[in-house]
Amino acid sequence: MGMSFSGRVALVTGAAAGIGRATALAFADEGLQVVVADLDETGGEATVRAIRENGGEASFVRCDVTRDADVAHLLATTLDTYGRLDYAFNNAGIEIERHKLAEGSEAEFDAIMGVNVKGVWLCMKHQIPALLAQGGGAIVNTASVAGLGAAPKMSIYSASKHAVVGLTKSAAIEYAKKGIRVNAVCPAVIDTDMFRRAHEADPRKADFAAAMHPVGRIGKVEEIAAAVLYLCCDAAAFTTGHTLAVDGGATAI
Ligand SMILES: NC(=O)c1ccc[n+]([C@@H]2O[C@H](COP(=O)([O-])OP(=O)(O)OC[C@H]3O[C@@H](n4cnc5c(N)ncnc54)[C@H](O)[C@@H]3O)[C@@H](O)[C@H]2O)c1
Repeated sequence: MGMSFSGRVALVTGAAAGIGRATALAFADEGLQVVVADLDETGGEATVRAIRENGGEASFVRCDVTRDADVAHLLATTLDTYGRLDYAFNNAGIEIERHKLAEGSEAEFDAIMGVNVKGVWLCMKHQIPALLAQGGGAIVNTASVAGLGAAPKMSIYSASKHAVVGLTKSAAIEYAKKGIRVNAVCPAVIDTDMFRRAHEADPRKADFAAAMHPVGRIGKVEEIAAAVLYLCCDAAAFTTGHTLAVDGGATAI
C-alpha cells in the first residue's frame, strides 16, 4: 500500500487491550516507535512486551484521558522519549450501559462522556500543537457505528460516539490547511475480551451479534487496526473529516 511509516512515531490510547493493543502492535510491525497509553499498567506493559518480543520499539505511559494533567504529561513524555509525534489513535473508551434511556444515572452519563468525549477532546487539544510544530500528521479517533445511528439500550454511549464524530469533523476542517488530517474509525461489534465476557455465558447472544452483520460474523481487532493504519498513511493524504465504518456491512442495511 506504500505506507511509508519508517522513522515515525505513533501514540495509541486504550492500548492495554482490545482494538488499541492490536493497533499498537500493527504500528510497531510497520516499523514505527509506539507510545502505549492506558489507565491499566499491567495490560499496557504487556502490550509493550509483546511489541519488543516482535523486535519493535514501544514504551508505556500511564494516562487517564479524562485528566488534563495526565494527557499533558503523556505528550511531554512522547516528545522527550522519541522527539516527535506523527500519528495519534485516540481510542480509549468505555461502554457501560445496558438499559433504556430513562433508567440511566447521572454518574453513568458523566463517566461515559468523560472518557469517550472529554478524553478524545483533551488528547487532540494536546496533540495538535505537537503536530503543528513539525508541519503535520494524522489523528484517528475511535467512534463506532453507534456514532452514526441509533444504539438501543446504549443511548449515552451513542451520544458520546456522535460527539466523537463532531469533534473529528470540526478539527479536520480547522487544521486541513496545516497538514493535519483527522478521521474517525467506526467499528461494529468486534471480538474483544469485553465482548467475550459478555457473550460467552449466553451463546444465543453471540449468534445474534454475528447475525447483525451482513457478512455473518463479528469483526476482528486486526481489521480495525488495518483501517487505522490506512487512515494514517500517506496513501490517505486526500482523506480527512471522514468516518470510516468497518462493520461487515451493518450500516449499509
Ligand atoms: N469492541 C467493540 O465491539 C467496539 C465497537 C465499536 C467501538 N468500540 C470502541 O473501541 C474502543 C476500544 O474498545 P475495545 O473494545 O478495545 O475495549 P477494551 O475495554 O478492550 O479496551 C479499552 C481500553 O481503554 C482503557 N481505558 C478506559 N478508560 C480509560 C481512561 N480514562 N484513560 C485511559 N485509558 C482508558 C481501558 O483500560 C482499556 O485498556 C472504545 O472507544 C470503544 O468504545 C468498540
